[in-house]
Amino acid sequence: MKLLVTGGAGFIGSNFIRYFLRAHPDAHIVNLDKLTYAGNLDNLSEIESHPNYKFVRGDVADSNLINSILSQPIDAIVHFAAETHVDRSIADAQAFVRTNVLGTYTLLDVAKRKRVGRFLHISTDEVYGSLTADESANEQSHIQPNSPYAASKAASDMFARSFWQTYQFPVVITRCSNNYGPYQFPEKLIPLMITHALHDMKLPVYGDGLNERDWLFVEDHCRAIDRVLEAGRPGEVYNIGFGRPVKNLEVVRLLLRIMGKSEDLIEFVADRPGHDRRYALDTGKIRAELGWEPAVGLEQGLAETVEWYRNHPDWVERTRNGEYLTYCEKFYRNRDATLPQL
Ligand SMILES: NC(=O)c1ccc[n+]([C@@H]2O[C@H](COP(=O)([O-])OP(=O)(O)OC[C@H]3O[C@@H](n4cnc5c(N)ncnc54)[C@H](O)[C@@H]3O)[C@@H](O)[C@H]2O)c1
Repeated sequence: MKLLVTGGAGFIGSNFIRYFLRAHPDAHIVNLDKLTYAGNLDNLSEIESHPNYKFVRGDVADSNLINSILSQPIDAIVHFAAETHVDRSIADAQAFVRTNVLGTYTLLDVAKRKRVGRFLHISTDEVYGSLTADESANEQSHIQPNSPYAASKAASDMFARSFWQTYQFPVVITRCSNNYGPYQFPEKLIPLMITHALHDMKLPVYGDGLNERDWLFVEDHCRAIDRVLEAGRPGEVYNIGFGRPVKNLEVVRLLLRIMGKSEDLIEFVADRPGHDRRYALDTGKIRAELGWEPAVGLEQGLAETVEWYRNHPDWVERTRNGEYLTYCEKFYRNRDATLPQL
């Protein structure tokens, strides 16, 4: 199996690459990543010299580059690359439109012409919008994105779908709930809370803290992607989630309990505009059809995540002070700029 992974220097992509090389020692991976602020080659330092792994710095919206990469035989693409932080999309969504919409379209277009055998488009439960207490979204539910981030992901899903409907290009879409685990950039809720609590800093919780998310440990997501890659049906959408939405405040309290810190650290701050109240997924399809089940419960996953952040203060410090950007620049400058061959 020869894979092109996009956005592999980010949180889920880097976890996926490490997982996939472990689970499939014969697999070869090319990682294409633009190295935005969210891309961190530090995440992949333990496999940077792996004989079956190659890194290319570049943009998924660059059709010439994609064309060159796909001139070598690639069996499948796993497309993670995206702008992903909702707050940043509220401040300015241009980069979201460019990468998430135009980038996905460009990748689909070149991959179709190069007859790539499988295209796995990684999407999010946020495209279904906010749900009420007794609702959960299945794969047929309406797409009702509320943030500019979710709107850009929904648009990319629609392009992916259209490439199957129009050209029978074998696209499969996954929509996963919120992930957490090692190597997540500390601007996101769980690593932000952990890194603040480790230093006895206040934990800023949006609004009343009662927004609900269905948290999934990142390695469970990676195993689900592996199953969909292997056996997902072209043209289909698969929801992925743990199956138990939990209020943000409950997650923060659980973290404080695990870390032995006081709840006095919690500080409620003004809510994010258009903040979705509740995401909840019906994940019956992937469980019944592909036999996937999550393996890591919330309490265990949070404890492992806390442990990881506690044991990686240098990684956290480099992401906080921007030093990882220098690391990435150095890494890239020391590499031969020609495209890697598998
Ligand atoms: N994090 C979650 O909880 C979650 C949940 C469901 C779905 N997703 C989806 O999973 C994917 C990965 O999410 P993540 O949390 O790992 O994101 P991330 O922000 O940690 O990483 C994104 C990666 O994409 C790269 N990138 C951005 N623009 C690019 C471009 N134009 N060309 C090439 N590379 C580019 C960045 O450098 C970075 O390495 C995204 O598509 C996201 O929508 C994330």
